[in-house]
Amino acid sequence: MILKRLKMFGAALCAAAFLLSLGVPAFFGVLGDNGRAVTADAAQPGAVDAPPDLAAGTEGRKLIAITFDDGPRRSTTTRLLDGLAQRGVRATFFLVGQNVGVNEDVVRRMEAEGHQVGVHTYDHERKLTGLSKADFSAQVDTTRKLLTQLLGHNDFILRPPYGMTDAGVKARAGAPIILWSVDPEDWKDQNADREVAFILNETKDGDIILMHDIFDASVDAALRAVDELHKRGFLFVTVDELFRERHIDLEKGQIYWNAYP
Ligand code: NI
Repeated sequence: MILKRLKMFGAALCAAAFLLSLGVPAFFGVLGDNGRAVTADAAQPGAVDAPPDLAAGTEGRKLIAITFDDGPRRSTTTRLLDGLAQRGVRATFFLVGQNVGVNEDVVRRMEAEGHQVGVHTYDHERKLTGLSKADFSAQVDTTRKLLTQLLGHNDFILRPPYGMTDAGVKARAGAPIILWSVDPEDWKDQNADREVAFILNETKDGDIILMHDIFDASVDAALRAVDELHKRGFLFVTVDELFRERHIDLEKGQIYWNAYP
């Protein structure tokens, strides 16, 4: 316990040193040719927190995967990506295929910034259970194909709408099926205060949080929850990273809810 506290204190010191290295020159600034202060911050937002360094080892650290379904939606997803980048947070996005075409740059940005991309469905108009092989393929394989053309690989984890699965979904998934263990039901009342309180109350080491990046309130709630969970020592990782760090091999057609230690 004491060792853990020392480690956390060490991490806090590192963070403080990092912030100082960014903040001191920005605070004092320099005078530009026109005599007005020019600061580093004026040029670019700059990261507030460094992303988790998994190479340093995560034994004894609290890990969490925050996941977003139903996007991308340019306005809200872009704001979320900006906020995650500032906080050094990697997340996982389960995409709706029909939203990909007009948001190709947003999807590329997700991957370029270290987030993980997965498949939700193509049109989100139906659940995946009870579908014929052709109907299932029209939802999942079509989306997978779009993402493969865009990103150049084909290893996309699957999250079925509503978390509904059956033997057919498991047989045809072609990928690990990732559900969740913390559900603030952000679609319901879109009340950021309630969502933040729920997440902070429920979240523990190894959880997978379910949210939707198509609502402004969800973006607000996610970023506020991230800030508080950072203070509590959580490291935000992608779904693949979460399971890898916990030495759990994800298998095609199997269902996963969390990666508790
Ligand atoms: Ni959905």
